[in-house]
Amino acid sequence: MTVAIRQIGLCFAGEVDGVDIRRPLTSDEAVAIHAGMDRYAVLVFRNQDIDDAQQLAFTQGLGDIEHAIGSSLRAPSEYRLPTTFADVSNLDKDNTPYARDDRRRLFAIGNRLWHSDSSFKVTPAKYSLLHAVSLPSKGGDTQFADMRAAYDALDEETKDLVEGMVCEHSQIYSRQLIGFFDLTDEERERFAPVRQCMVRVHPVTGRKSLYLSSHAGGIVGWPVPEARGFLRDLIEHATQREFVYTHKWRLGDLVMWDNRQTMHRARPFPANEPRDMRRTTLAGDGPTAEQASAAVH
Ligand code: OGA
Ligand code: MN
Repeated sequence: MTVAIRQIGLCFAGEVDGVDIRRPLTSDEAVAIHAGMDRYAVLVFRNQDIDDAQQLAFTQGLGDIEHAIGSSLRAPSEYRLPTTFADVSNLDKDNTPYARDDRRRLFAIGNRLWHSDSSFKVTPAKYSLLHAVSLPSKGGDTQFADMRAAYDALDEETKDLVEGMVCEHSQIYSRQLIGFFDLTDEERERFAPVRQCMVRVHPVTGRKSLYLSSHAGGIVGWPVPEARGFLRDLIEHATQREFVYTHKWRLGDLVMWDNRQTMHRARPFPANEPRDMRRTTLAGDGPTAEQASAAVH
């Protein structure tokens, strides 16, 4: 079967037909999926009855993966999934939902802020692939925003202002926004800020996009309060309704997004219900900006 993609969002996001993720990808299918990502930036695959090994093989058919090590508050001994997966669930190692005040849960609530995956790493993520294994009875949608459309809609003065701009990203900053300050010295060191450029140019299409994320807490050369105000205004601009696609999850959905061209956020759901979401991630090509000498990773 050939790969067919139908647009489902107002300005981006497509639903894919004709791909069985359980089977190895042919090179034609991989080319079609990359082309679909270049165009739609978010692709939805419905009714995929896959296990972890199949998700991983599908992801590896599209590129090199990013390992999930040390980017949450789970200690390695508490990992429920191998490091080839980012565990986006609210579940402990024994598959029970975290207690409401568990600091690992509270930290993960940062995913409810608009962000781009791994923007807090020197080499940030390319694609993320999220598979729904179990879902809560209500809530828990994921929203996506098109950062190309957001860039295009800026006035010329703002386009000039953001050109060449470099931001500092850290999970410390995104958690400050939700009032979570409970980090150890080791975690603060592990989450030391990294630099990312604000305007990214897509390597294939040449389209520019705003590289925004709630992890961004500073702009190089700007006073902090002014930078935070500006970043907040830009995120507000970039997440207007017309740039947003809301994904309502069904079991067996796999959603893939391009972190270079989109932001996303999780929506709330009942704290006591399991939401088992498993993410594989494709590594980016390299840093987007030169690092300050103090950045350690
Ligand atoms: C992620 C993420 C949002 C969600 O997987 O990176 O932010 O709805 N997920 O779980
Ligand atoms: Mn995310």
